[in-house]
This record gives sequence, C-alpha cells and structure tokens, in this order.
Amino acid sequence: MNKTVLITGANAGIGKESARQLALKFGTEKIYLACRNMHKAKAAKLELEESTGKSIFEIIIMDVSNIDSVRSAVQELETPIDALIMNAGGMGGKTPGAKTEDGVTNMFASNVLGHIVLLDELLKAKKLNNVALFAGTEAARGIPKMKMKRPSLLTSSVEEFESIADGSYFGDKFNAMSSYGLVKYTAIMSLLSSARKHPNVRILSMSPGGTSGTEVANDMSFILRLMMKMMSKTLMPLMGMMHKLETGAKRFVDGISDETYETGIFYASKEKVLTGQVVDQATIFVDLENESYQDNAYDAIHKFIR
Ligand SMILES: NC(=O)c1ccc[n+]([C@@H]2O[C@H](COP(=O)([O-])OP(=O)(O)OC[C@H]3O[C@@H](n4cnc5c(N)ncnc54)[C@H](OP(=O)(O)O)[C@@H]3O)[C@@H](O)[C@H]2O)c1
Repeated sequence: MNKTVLITGANAGIGKESARQLALKFGTEKIYLACRNMHKAKAAKLELEESTGKSIFEIIIMDVSNIDSVRSAVQELETPIDALIMNAGGMGGKTPGAKTEDGVTNMFASNVLGHIVLLDELLKAKKLNNVALFAGTEAARGIPKMKMKRPSLLTSSVEEFESIADGSYFGDKFNAMSSYGLVKYTAIMSLLSSARKHPNVRILSMSPGGTSGTEVANDMSFILRLMMKMMSKTLMPLMGMMHKLETGAKRFVDGISDETYETGIFYASKEKVLTGQVVDQATIFVDLENESYQDNAYDAIHKFIR
C-alpha cells in the first residue's frame, strides 16, 4: 500500500485530479504536491482540501526543468515516499525548442531531464519505497489519426538520443507537436533501462490517454486551442480519442496502486485509439523492447546531468 505519494505538476490537470482520487483512497496518509509556482500550489491545495475533506496535502516547490530545484526538493523530504508520479510536463511552454542552461530544450527539460534526476536522487537517498510512474503518451508510439508519426530513429544510438534532448535532431524549426512523441519516447526508453537496474522498485510508464479538461493546450495557437476545445467534447470521444479527466487520472492511480501493472512496461491505449483499456506498448512498437536502445537513451540523458 502506498501511504505517501509525491506528484509532480500537481496544481493542474491530471496531476491534481490524481491527487484528489488518491486522497479518497483508503490508506493514503500524505500527498506531496510538487509544483513550481507557490501561488498555484496553494490554490490547488485549498481546492483539494475542500473537495476531499482531507488535510493530507503538503506543498514542495520543485521546477522539474531545473536540476538544482529537483535536488533541493529531494533533500527537503524528511522521510521516504512510497510512490512517485512523474506527471509534470506537456508541450514545453511558450518556447519549447529554446535551450536551458543544461543544454536541453525546454520541452525535454520539463518532461524528461528533471524527472530522471528526481528518480535517480530518490533512489540514491533511499527515499523511494515502492513505485515510480512516468506520464507517457500514445504519441511515443505514434498516433496516425493525429498525424503524429511513430518514432523511426536511424540508429537509436546514444548520439541520436542526445540530439533529441538538445533539439538538434529536429533541425532549425522546432515543432512542438512533432517533437513531443520523441521526447517522451526517450524518457520511456531510459526508464525501461532504469527498471532493469533497480529491480526492487516498480518503475513503469503509463499514458493517461487522450484526456480532456486539462491545461495542456494552453500553449497552442488560438485556432488550435479552439479546435481542441470544440472537438474534445464532441468528435474526439466518439472516435475513441478522448475521455474525461477522471478517467485519465485513474490510469495513474491504478498504475501505482495495482501491482499487476508490471515494472519495465510502457502501458497505453490499444493501437488505433487513445481511450479504453491499456496494453503493453511493446506489442505495438517492438523498439520498446530493445535493451541496448533503452540503455542508449539512459546514457544519453545522463550526459546532460551535472
Ligand atoms: N491531456 C492529455 O491528453 C495527455 C495525454 C498524454 C499525456 N499527457 C501527459 O500527462 C501529463 C499531465 O498533462 P495535463 O494534460 O494534465 O497537463 P496540464 O493540465 O497542462 O498540467 C501540467 C502540469 O505540469 C506542470 N509543469 C509543467 N512544467 C513544469 C515544470 N517545469 N516544473 C513543475 N511543474 C511543471 C504544470 O504547472 P504550471 O501550472 O506551473 O504550468 C501543471 O501543473 C503531462 O506530462 C502530459 O504530457 C497528457
């Protein structure tokens, strides 16, 4: 049982809804809301206390795109946590292709680099007891209906994964929609490698599926946002491409709570949809099973960690 859970990006969307569901689950004693903005974190904590009637939420300030911020947050933790949900991220803000001081794109920093450091530091400090879950996405194995291609790397070498991290893979024009799947794919591959390295902790990736009611589209253009808003209530659910916020967050809650979700697996929707049951994505995209590709992604990411 997971008595203590830490969720990154817990002030909005799927992170906040996961916190709400976990608070109502029998046995949960403490939920750390790891957020980068104190004002938003306080508002979310208040809302969660009111909606659940529980006073078990604690704020930790953590910007997952900043390695120092992640490290000091881990130091602050006085006792180990049972479960970690690496949820923060999305499309990488207003300038997703711009580089951070660590030499990776903003999109890579906020989805991947900080989370890899967070997991490493928690494991090193023996502050993670049971399970770590990363927010994957079906884009990491391609979503043809949304014109998101399956990753088709040339060599899957360390250098190629490094080029995804620093953005050079994408050339001069960084396009958030086409980069997102590859960025998440690199994290998922690295975590598959971590799962083999740390067999005593369950380490898995889980896509929430196409999930409405979140703020993920906020950085998209006005037109795209409008289209998403209209379609998310009408066409997308009918096409099996979108479900409710509660359903998306439940995938994360189940992923950490139910031990039948195994370590070293990337779970997401069946091939042609973004909703419904989750399946092992290696049955759809065989590269996910390639241990040397996994290790290459792990090594590439660790080259950016000071
Ligand atoms: N919604 C979907 O359909 C969908 C599908 C597949 C995967 N996902 C993944 O699921 C996760 C949650 O998505 P969502 O739809 O709930 O998005 P969201 O509503 O935009 O929430 C994202 C959360 O991440 C936080 N965040 C972003 N960058 C951060 C950073 N550098 N440090 C700390 N927190 C940061 C945001 O905080 P601020 O408020 O401070 O920005 C916010 O709390 C993401 O990783 C996303 O890629 C979503």
